[in-house]
Amino acid sequence: MAAIIHILGTGTIGEPLLGLFVDLGDRMGIDEVTFHKRTPLRSDRPRIRHLMERGAKLAVDAERRNDFEALGHEVSYEAREAIERATVVIDCTPAGNENKELYYQDISAPKGYLAQGSELGFGTPYARGVNDEALIPGETRFIQIVSCNTHNITTLIKTLCHDSDSYCLEQGNFVCMRRANDVTQTSGFIPAPSLGAHGDAEFGTHHARDAHRVFETLGQNFDLFSSAVKLNTQYMHTIWFRMAFNRDTSVEEVVERLRANPRVAVTEKQQTNLVFSFGRDHGYYGRILSQTVVSLPTLTVQRKRELYGFCFTPQDGNSLLSSVAAALWLIDPDPSSVSTRLKPLSKWLYQEV
Ligand SMILES: NC(=O)c1ccc[n+]([C@@H]2O[C@H](COP(=O)([O-])OP(=O)(O)OC[C@H]3O[C@@H](n4cnc5c(N)ncnc54)[C@H](OP(=O)(O)O)[C@@H]3O)[C@@H](O)[C@H]2O)c1
Repeated sequence: MAAIIHILGTGTIGEPLLGLFVDLGDRMGIDEVTFHKRTPLRSDRPRIRHLMERGAKLAVDAERRNDFEALGHEVSYEAREAIERATVVIDCTPAGNENKELYYQDISAPKGYLAQGSELGFGTPYARGVNDEALIPGETRFIQIVSCNTHNITTLIKTLCHDSDSYCLEQGNFVCMRRANDVTQTSGFIPAPSLGAHGDAEFGTHHARDAHRVFETLGQNFDLFSSAVKLNTQYMHTIWFRMAFNRDTSVEEVVERLRANPRVAVTEKQQTNLVFSFGRDHGYYGRILSQTVVSLPTLTVQRKRELYGFCFTPQDGNSLLSSVAAALWLIDPDPSSVSTRLKPLSKWLYQEV
Protein backbone atom coordinates (compact mmCIF):
# COMPACT_ATOMS: atom_id res chain seq x y z
CA MET A 1 0.00 0.00 0.00
CA ALA A 2 1.33 3.46 -0.94
CA ALA A 3 2.51 5.63 1.98
CA ILE A 4 1.00 9.09 1.64
CA ILE A 5 1.83 12.03 3.92
CA HIS A 6 -0.72 14.84 3.98
CA ILE A 7 0.22 18.13 5.67
CA LEU A 8 -2.22 20.91 6.57
CA GLY A 9 -0.69 24.38 6.82
CA THR A 10 2.27 25.87 5.00
CA GLY A 11 3.45 28.30 7.71
CA THR A 12 6.58 28.45 9.85
CA ILE A 13 6.49 24.75 10.66
CA GLY A 14 4.41 23.32 7.80
CA GLU A 15 6.64 24.51 4.97
CA PRO A 16 9.98 23.05 6.14
CA LEU A 17 8.21 19.84 7.14
CA LEU A 18 6.78 19.57 3.64
CA GLY A 19 10.25 20.27 2.33
CA LEU A 20 11.74 17.38 4.31
CA PHE A 21 9.15 14.95 2.99
CA VAL A 22 9.35 16.04 -0.66
CA ASP A 23 13.15 16.20 -0.69
CA LEU A 24 13.86 13.02 1.30
CA GLY A 25 10.59 11.08 1.12
CA ASP A 26 11.84 8.46 -1.34
CA ARG A 27 14.62 7.59 1.14
CA MET A 28 12.10 7.35 3.98
CA GLY A 29 9.64 5.05 2.17
CA ILE A 30 7.14 7.80 1.34
CA ASP A 31 5.38 7.49 -2.02
CA GLU A 32 3.41 10.73 -2.17
CA VAL A 33 3.27 14.07 -0.35
CA THR A 34 0.14 16.21 -0.43
CA PHE A 35 -0.68 19.44 1.37
CA HIS A 36 -3.62 21.66 2.19
CA LYS A 37 -3.35 25.42 1.74
CA ARG A 38 -6.22 27.46 3.11
CA THR A 39 -5.80 30.95 1.67
CA PRO A 40 -5.03 31.66 -2.01
CA LEU A 41 -2.50 34.48 -1.91
CA ARG A 42 -0.42 35.93 -4.71
CA SER A 43 2.37 36.64 -2.22
CA ASP A 44 2.53 32.92 -1.28
CA ARG A 45 2.72 31.82 -4.93
CA PRO A 46 6.54 31.44 -5.21
CA ARG A 47 6.84 29.10 -2.22
CA ILE A 48 3.77 27.05 -3.16
CA ARG A 49 5.11 26.74 -6.69
CA HIS A 50 8.54 25.69 -5.40
CA LEU A 51 7.03 22.94 -3.22
CA MET A 52 4.94 21.67 -6.14
CA GLU A 53 7.91 21.69 -8.52
CA ARG A 54 9.59 19.30 -6.07
CA GLY A 55 6.60 16.93 -6.16
CA ALA A 56 4.09 18.01 -3.50
CA LYS A 57 0.44 17.93 -4.62
CA LEU A 58 -2.00 20.65 -3.61
CA ALA A 59 -5.36 20.16 -1.90
CA VAL A 60 -7.76 23.05 -1.28
CA ASP A 61 -11.29 23.67 -0.04
CA ALA A 62 -13.85 23.23 -2.83
CA GLU A 63 -14.99 26.85 -2.69
CA ARG A 64 -11.39 28.12 -3.10
CA ARG A 65 -10.44 25.88 -6.04
CA ASN A 66 -11.09 28.51 -8.74
CA ASP A 67 -9.03 31.12 -6.84
CA PHE A 68 -6.03 28.78 -6.59
CA GLU A 69 -6.32 27.84 -10.27
CA ALA A 70 -6.52 31.52 -11.20
CA LEU A 71 -3.13 31.92 -9.49
CA GLY A 72 -1.77 29.23 -11.81
CA HIS A 73 -1.68 26.36 -9.27
CA GLU A 74 -2.72 22.87 -10.30
CA VAL A 75 -5.17 21.57 -7.68
CA SER A 76 -5.01 17.79 -7.25
CA TYR A 77 -7.47 17.11 -4.43
CA GLU A 78 -10.23 18.61 -2.38
CA ALA A 79 -9.55 19.04 1.35
CA ARG A 80 -11.54 16.08 2.69
CA GLU A 81 -10.52 13.78 -0.16
CA ALA A 82 -6.83 14.42 0.66
CA ILE A 83 -7.36 13.43 4.31
CA GLU A 84 -9.30 10.29 3.33
CA ARG A 85 -6.57 9.01 1.01
CA ALA A 86 -3.64 9.80 3.36
CA THR A 87 -1.68 7.28 5.42
CA VAL A 88 -0.65 9.95 7.96
CA VAL A 89 -2.12 13.44 8.37
CA ILE A 90 0.10 16.11 9.94
CA ASP A 91 -1.74 19.21 11.09
CA CYS A 92 0.59 22.24 11.14
CA THR A 93 -2.10 24.84 11.77
CA PRO A 94 -3.11 26.49 15.04
CA ALA A 95 -6.48 24.69 14.57
CA GLY A 96 -5.50 21.05 15.10
CA ASN A 97 -8.04 20.41 17.85
CA GLU A 98 -10.78 22.12 15.86
CA ASN A 99 -9.92 20.04 12.79
CA LYS A 100 -9.93 16.88 14.92
CA GLU A 101 -13.47 17.64 15.99
CA LEU A 102 -14.62 18.61 12.49
CA TYR A 103 -12.89 15.89 10.42
CA TYR A 104 -10.22 13.64 11.87
CA GLN A 105 -12.20 11.75 14.49
CA ASP A 106 -14.70 10.65 11.83
CA ILE A 107 -12.22 9.72 9.09
CA SER A 108 -10.76 6.35 9.98
CA ALA A 109 -8.74 5.63 6.83
CA PRO A 110 -5.41 7.25 7.94
CA LYS A 111 -3.22 5.25 10.30
CA GLY A 112 -2.88 8.34 12.45
CA TYR A 113 -2.89 12.09 12.94
CA LEU A 114 -0.30 14.52 14.34
CA ALA A 115 -0.80 18.08 15.58
CA GLN A 116 1.65 20.64 16.94
CA GLY A 117 2.56 22.37 20.22
CA SER A 118 -0.44 24.63 20.73
CA GLU A 119 -2.94 21.77 20.43
CA LEU A 120 -3.11 20.62 24.04
CA GLY A 121 -5.15 17.43 24.42
CA PHE A 122 -4.99 16.44 20.73
CA GLY A 123 -3.29 13.14 21.56
CA THR A 124 -0.29 11.55 23.26
CA PRO A 125 2.32 14.31 23.85
CA TYR A 126 5.54 13.20 22.15
CA ALA A 127 9.20 14.21 21.80
CA ARG A 128 11.59 11.93 19.91
CA GLY A 129 14.08 10.20 22.21
CA VAL A 130 12.21 11.24 25.35
CA ASN A 131 9.03 9.13 25.47
CA ASP A 132 9.03 6.89 22.40
CA GLU A 133 7.72 4.02 24.53
CA ALA A 134 4.52 6.00 25.19
CA LEU A 135 3.44 5.36 21.59
CA ILE A 136 1.56 2.05 21.51
CA PRO A 137 1.53 0.20 18.15
CA GLY A 138 -2.00 -0.41 16.88
CA GLU A 139 -3.45 1.83 19.59
CA THR A 140 -2.01 5.36 19.42
CA ARG A 141 -3.58 7.23 16.49
CA PHE A 142 -3.51 10.83 17.74
CA ILE A 143 -0.14 12.36 18.68
CA GLN A 144 0.68 15.91 19.79
CA ILE A 145 4.22 16.91 18.84
CA VAL A 146 5.17 19.09 21.79
CA SER A 147 6.48 22.63 21.35
CA CYS A 148 10.10 23.51 20.67
CA ASN A 149 10.77 24.68 24.26
CA THR A 150 9.08 21.56 25.67
CA HIS A 151 11.42 19.46 23.53
CA ASN A 152 14.35 21.36 24.98
CA ILE A 153 13.29 20.99 28.64
CA THR A 154 12.30 17.31 28.38
CA THR A 155 15.48 16.44 26.49
CA LEU A 156 17.62 18.09 29.18
CA ILE A 157 15.85 16.12 31.91
CA LYS A 158 16.00 12.81 30.04
CA THR A 159 19.65 13.24 29.11
CA LEU A 160 20.94 14.43 32.47
CA CYS A 161 18.67 12.70 34.99
CA HIS A 162 17.76 9.28 33.61
CA ASP A 163 19.80 6.66 35.51
CA SER A 164 18.94 3.29 33.88
CA ASP A 165 15.61 2.60 35.64
CA SER A 166 15.06 5.78 37.68
CA TYR A 167 15.52 9.55 37.51
CA CYS A 168 17.79 11.57 39.81
CA LEU A 169 15.81 14.82 39.34
CA GLU A 170 14.52 16.36 42.55
CA GLN A 171 13.40 19.68 41.07
CA GLY A 172 13.70 21.61 37.80
CA ASN A 173 13.35 25.37 37.23
CA PHE A 174 13.36 26.91 33.78
CA VAL A 175 13.20 30.52 32.54
CA CYS A 176 12.18 30.54 28.89
CA MET A 177 13.45 33.67 27.16
CA ARG A 178 11.38 33.71 24.02
CA ARG A 179 11.88 35.65 20.82
CA ALA A 180 9.11 38.19 20.31
CA ASN A 181 8.28 36.80 16.86
CA ASP A 182 9.61 34.48 14.14
CA VAL A 183 11.61 35.81 11.21
CA THR A 184 8.66 34.77 9.02
CA GLN A 185 6.14 36.77 11.03
CA THR A 186 5.16 40.33 10.22
CA SER A 187 3.53 41.33 13.47
CA GLY A 188 3.92 40.94 17.22
CA PHE A 189 7.39 42.42 17.59
CA ILE A 190 7.89 44.24 20.90
CA PRO A 191 10.58 46.86 21.53
CA ALA A 192 11.32 45.74 25.12
CA PRO A 193 11.42 42.63 27.33
CA SER A 194 7.90 41.63 28.29
CA LEU A 195 7.36 39.51 31.40
CA GLY A 196 4.98 36.56 31.44
CA ALA A 197 2.54 36.06 34.29
CA HIS A 198 2.74 32.88 36.36
CA GLY A 199 -0.74 31.87 35.25
CA ASP A 200 -0.38 28.19 36.12
CA ALA A 201 -0.75 27.74 39.88
CA GLU A 202 1.34 24.56 39.95
CA PHE A 203 3.87 24.91 37.14
CA GLY A 204 4.22 28.69 36.64
CA THR A 205 3.81 28.70 32.85
CA HIS A 206 2.71 26.12 30.30
CA HIS A 207 6.33 25.15 29.53
CA ALA A 208 6.86 23.19 32.78
CA ARG A 209 3.29 21.89 32.65
CA ASP A 210 3.80 20.56 29.11
CA ALA A 211 7.12 18.94 30.10
CA HIS A 212 5.39 17.36 33.09
CA ARG A 213 2.70 15.93 30.78
CA VAL A 214 5.37 14.31 28.58
CA PHE A 215 6.94 12.54 31.58
CA GLU A 216 3.51 11.55 32.89
CA THR A 217 3.28 9.25 29.85
CA LEU A 218 6.27 7.43 31.41
CA GLY A 219 4.68 7.31 34.87
CA GLN A 220 6.89 10.11 36.25
CA ASN A 221 5.72 13.02 38.39
CA PHE A 222 8.46 15.66 38.44
CA ASP A 223 8.56 18.88 40.45
CA LEU A 224 8.94 21.44 37.64
CA PHE A 225 8.42 25.19 37.49
CA SER A 226 8.87 27.60 34.60
CA SER A 227 8.77 31.33 33.92
CA ALA A 228 8.68 33.10 30.59
CA VAL A 229 9.88 36.42 29.26
CA LYS A 230 9.59 37.65 25.69
CA LEU A 231 12.71 39.40 24.45
CA ASN A 232 12.99 41.99 21.73
CA THR A 233 14.72 39.63 19.31
CA GLN A 234 13.81 37.51 16.30
CA TYR A 235 16.56 34.99 17.04
CA MET A 236 15.87 31.67 18.71
CA HIS A 237 14.61 31.06 22.23
CA THR A 238 17.08 30.73 25.12
CA ILE A 239 16.45 28.86 28.39
CA TRP A 240 18.08 29.35 31.80
CA PHE A 241 17.82 26.24 33.94
CA ARG A 242 18.44 25.00 37.47
CA MET A 243 18.19 21.27 38.05
CA ALA A 244 18.48 19.85 41.58
CA PHE A 245 19.64 16.22 41.74
CA ASN A 246 19.10 13.66 44.54
CA ARG A 247 22.73 12.55 44.18
CA ASP A 248 26.07 14.24 43.59
CA THR A 249 27.00 15.28 40.07
CA SER A 250 29.70 17.35 38.35
CA VAL A 251 30.14 19.48 35.25
CA GLU A 252 32.30 16.68 33.79
CA GLU A 253 29.50 14.14 34.16
CA VAL A 254 26.95 16.57 32.71
CA VAL A 255 29.10 17.31 29.65
CA GLU A 256 29.79 13.62 29.11
CA ARG A 257 26.06 12.86 29.13
CA LEU A 258 25.28 15.75 26.77
CA ARG A 259 27.95 14.61 24.34
CA ALA A 260 26.63 11.03 24.42
CA ASN A 261 23.16 12.00 23.15
CA PRO A 262 23.17 12.33 19.33
CA ARG A 263 20.14 14.62 19.49
CA VAL A 264 21.91 17.15 21.76
CA ALA A 265 24.40 19.78 20.63
CA VAL A 266 26.90 21.59 22.83
CA THR A 267 28.55 24.89 22.05
CA GLU A 268 31.25 27.23 23.32
CA LYS A 269 29.12 30.11 22.00
CA GLN A 270 27.29 32.44 24.38
CA GLN A 271 25.49 34.65 21.86
CA THR A 272 22.13 33.68 20.37
CA ASN A 273 22.88 35.24 16.99
CA LEU A 274 25.93 32.99 16.53
CA VAL A 275 23.89 29.84 17.17
CA PHE A 276 21.07 31.13 14.96
CA SER A 277 23.44 31.92 12.10
CA PHE A 278 25.04 28.47 12.39
CA GLY A 279 21.56 27.07 11.69
CA ARG A 280 21.08 29.43 8.76
CA ASP A 281 24.42 28.38 7.26
CA HIS A 282 24.40 24.65 8.06
CA GLY A 283 20.77 23.71 8.55
CA TYR A 284 17.81 22.58 6.46
CA TYR A 285 15.60 25.60 5.68
CA GLY A 286 17.95 27.40 8.11
CA ARG A 287 17.25 24.96 10.94
CA ILE A 288 19.37 22.39 12.67
CA LEU A 289 17.29 19.48 13.99
CA SER A 290 19.06 19.05 17.34
CA GLN A 291 16.69 19.22 20.30
CA THR A 292 18.79 21.62 22.37
CA VAL A 293 22.09 23.48 22.13
CA VAL A 294 23.72 23.72 25.56
CA SER A 295 26.21 26.52 26.16
CA LEU A 296 29.16 24.83 27.88
CA PRO A 297 30.79 27.95 29.43
CA THR A 298 27.56 28.62 31.34
CA LEU A 299 27.41 25.26 33.14
CA THR A 300 28.18 25.16 36.83
CA VAL A 301 27.40 22.77 39.69
CA GLN A 302 26.74 24.28 43.13
CA ARG A 303 26.69 22.35 46.42
CA LYS A 304 27.50 19.17 44.40
CA ARG A 305 23.82 18.63 43.50
CA GLU A 306 22.54 21.76 41.73
CA LEU A 307 23.22 22.28 38.05
CA TYR A 308 22.87 25.77 36.53
CA GLY A 309 23.24 26.75 32.89
CA PHE A 310 21.81 28.18 29.69
CA CYS A 311 20.78 26.49 26.46
CA PHE A 312 19.30 27.54 23.14
CA THR A 313 16.17 26.14 21.48
CA PRO A 314 17.13 25.73 17.81
CA GLN A 315 13.93 27.22 16.40
CA ASP A 316 11.37 24.55 15.58
CA GLY A 317 13.90 21.99 14.28
CA ASN A 318 13.23 19.65 17.18
CA SER A 319 9.48 19.63 16.44
CA LEU A 320 10.26 18.85 12.79
CA LEU A 321 12.40 15.84 13.75
CA SER A 322 9.71 14.48 16.09
CA SER A 323 6.99 15.09 13.47
CA VAL A 324 8.88 13.02 10.89
CA ALA A 325 9.70 10.32 13.47
CA ALA A 326 6.08 10.02 14.63
CA ALA A 327 4.79 9.89 11.05
CA LEU A 328 7.26 7.12 10.17
CA TRP A 329 6.27 5.28 13.38
CA LEU A 330 2.59 5.40 12.40
CA ILE A 331 3.43 3.89 9.01
CA ASP A 332 5.58 1.10 10.54
CA PRO A 333 6.20 1.14 14.32
CA ASP A 334 9.19 -1.20 14.32
CA PRO A 335 11.80 0.87 16.27
CA SER A 336 14.84 -0.13 14.23
CA SER A 337 12.97 0.51 10.98
CA VAL A 338 11.99 4.00 12.22
CA SER A 339 15.65 4.75 13.02
CA THR A 340 16.78 3.52 9.60
CA ARG A 341 14.18 5.60 7.75
CA LEU A 342 15.11 8.68 9.85
CA LYS A 343 18.79 8.43 8.83
CA PRO A 344 18.54 10.97 5.97
CA LEU A 345 17.81 13.64 8.61
CA SER A 346 20.83 12.85 10.75
CA LYS A 347 23.16 15.21 8.86
CA TRP A 348 21.30 18.13 10.47
CA LEU A 349 21.65 16.66 13.97
CA TYR A 350 24.78 18.49 15.06
CA GLN A 351 26.56 17.49 18.27
CA GLU A 352 28.69 20.62 18.28
CA VAL A 353 27.69 24.10 17.13
N1 LIG B 1 6.61 28.56 14.89
C1 LIG B 1 7.25 27.74 15.70
O1 LIG B 1 8.42 27.94 16.09
C2 LIG B 1 6.58 26.49 16.14
C3 LIG B 1 7.36 25.55 16.75
C4 LIG B 1 6.76 24.39 17.16
C5 LIG B 1 5.40 24.23 16.99
N2 LIG B 1 4.64 25.19 16.40
C6 LIG B 1 3.20 24.95 16.27
O2 LIG B 1 2.85 24.73 14.92
C7 LIG B 1 1.52 25.17 14.66
C8 LIG B 1 1.54 26.12 13.50
O3 LIG B 1 2.40 27.20 13.85
P1 LIG B 1 3.13 28.07 12.74
O4 LIG B 1 4.06 28.96 13.48
O5 LIG B 1 3.66 27.22 11.64
O6 LIG B 1 1.88 28.94 12.20
P2 LIG B 1 1.83 29.94 10.97
O7 LIG B 1 3.18 30.25 10.45
O8 LIG B 1 0.92 31.06 11.38
O9 LIG B 1 1.07 29.09 9.84
C9 LIG B 1 -0.22 28.59 10.04
C10 LIG B 1 -0.64 27.84 8.81
O10 LIG B 1 -1.87 27.20 9.12
C11 LIG B 1 -2.85 27.57 8.16
N3 LIG B 1 -4.11 27.70 8.89
C12 LIG B 1 -4.37 28.52 9.89
N4 LIG B 1 -5.60 28.27 10.38
C13 LIG B 1 -6.10 27.28 9.64
C14 LIG B 1 -7.32 26.58 9.66
N5 LIG B 1 -8.29 26.88 10.52
N6 LIG B 1 -7.50 25.57 8.75
C15 LIG B 1 -6.54 25.28 7.86
N7 LIG B 1 -5.36 25.93 7.80
C16 LIG B 1 -5.14 26.91 8.69
C17 LIG B 1 -2.39 28.86 7.52
O11 LIG B 1 -2.88 28.83 6.20
P3 LIG B 1 -3.03 30.11 5.25
O12 LIG B 1 -1.83 30.96 5.47
O13 LIG B 1 -3.10 29.52 3.88
O14 LIG B 1 -4.32 30.78 5.66
C18 LIG B 1 -0.87 28.70 7.58
O15 LIG B 1 -0.40 27.99 6.44
C19 LIG B 1 1.04 25.80 15.98
O16 LIG B 1 0.31 24.80 16.66
C20 LIG B 1 2.32 26.10 16.73
O17 LIG B 1 2.14 26.03 18.13
C21 LIG B 1 5.21 26.31 15.96
